[in-house]
Amino acid sequence: MLGICYGMQLIAHRLGGELVKLDRAEYGPAVLHVDDPTSMLFAGVPRESRVWMSHGDSVVRLPSGFAPLASTERCNVAAMSDVTRKIYGVQFHPEVVQTEYGRVVLENFLGRIAEVPRDWAMESFVETAIAEIRERLGGARAICALSGGVDSAVAATLVARAIGEQLTCIFVDHGLLRKGEAEQVVAAFRDVLHLDVRAIDARARFLDALNGVDDPERKRIIIGHEFIAVFEEAAQEISNVRFLVQGTLYPDVIESKTPESKAGQKIKSHHNVGGLPERMNLELVEPLRMLFKDEVRALGRVLGLPDHIVRRQPFPGPGLAVRIIGDVTSERLQILRDADAIVREEIDRAVLSPHPWQYFAVLTPVRSVGVMGDGRTYANLVAVRAITSEDGMTADWARLPPELLERISSRIVNEVRGVNRVAYDITTKPPATVEWE
Ligand code: XMP
Repeated sequence: MLGICYGMQLIAHRLGGELVKLDRAEYGPAVLHVDDPTSMLFAGVPRESRVWMSHGDSVVRLPSGFAPLASTERCNVAAMSDVTRKIYGVQFHPEVVQTEYGRVVLENFLGRIAEVPRDWAMESFVETAIAEIRERLGGARAICALSGGVDSAVAATLVARAIGEQLTCIFVDHGLLRKGEAEQVVAAFRDVLHLDVRAIDARARFLDALNGVDDPERKRIIIGHEFIAVFEEAAQEISNVRFLVQGTLYPDVIESKTPESKAGQKIKSHHNVGGLPERMNLELVEPLRMLFKDEVRALGRVLGLPDHIVRRQPFPGPGLAVRIIGDVTSERLQILRDADAIVREEIDRAVLSPHPWQYFAVLTPVRSVGVMGDGRTYANLVAVRAITSEDGMTADWARLPPELLERISSRIVNEVRGVNRVAYDITTKPPATVEWE
């Protein structure tokens, strides 16, 4: 067994060890010191390396049979093992890129300790998934909720492989997409992927529903409800629809606290899981719910999706509504779309290593004083968020070159009416989240 992060405390506590609450929680980067270099868990890992921590309590007494393996400055036991019972625990996150040797630790555990054979391949996932979808759906018709992102594209293509023309894709233009995106999405799905796509213009309906709403959870729930309602209406135009296909991923599932993860505290209701109405007329098909984003991309490649779709950066279902802090209006959407297009254009054009995983603009409700020409301005503050991440579960802020930040800032202020100040977000996740809402 390998306990990751909170898992280690749980194991230590359950097996008779002792925990204390830290005065100050340890979040973010730390240096891991390997105290027992003979442990198989740390084979090939240097005595000191960078890890990512996220915990508020710490093990002070190990359960009997356990020995400490590693520590950080603020955490005396950052890894432990009972070699006889083959139980290992780590306090840091081995699964994130910020942990330099995390992959080696996981490989050591799976290969050297658990002796699991390496025989999993994405091709076999495709075969199994297609067989399962065929069996469950039989001859029934399904509709797919296309959002424009990689997840729904991969989910739709996978389901189309399984049931062909029984699948109809519905693209709801909720008016919360990025600049030019609605047109690109329809073109890509129809012309490149050759899927049966019906586009519905629901922009006014979503704006109406969001009128005066500034609470992020309410925005998500409203958008989720509207989505489902529009799908259901669209489905009624197609006879005998029984299933709704969605590109829900594993992080959405755990972060939204479904029955599969009762232990997790609810952070955000990702609309494709948490916002679903109780009484829905369609049955859900979520072929990606056990996959992480990088696995979905790999699956997309195996399915032959074009690179520009597979590499598309993640974009939340509620779209720009959760990047406008406060009220969503068509004027504020326009400001954010224009600022966001500049952020993406400039970062796309730059040669960066690593290339940020996600980057966008956020429109804040803050207005500040500025000066343009001879005149005073009192206008909006736009924040720029650019992060490196592997799966969105944890993230670091991207160290963008100052010249790039300068170009982004001056272009936004000069080209976007209504913005006179730009700030760069330098917060990691945790403790912040990727999206501001
Ligand atoms: P957070 O903000 O939770 O974001 O750190 C993690 C990843 O999830 C995306 N995200 C969402 N995706 N519906 C979605 O489909 C949502 O409501 C939602 N909120 C956040 C976010 O863009 C990031 O990639």
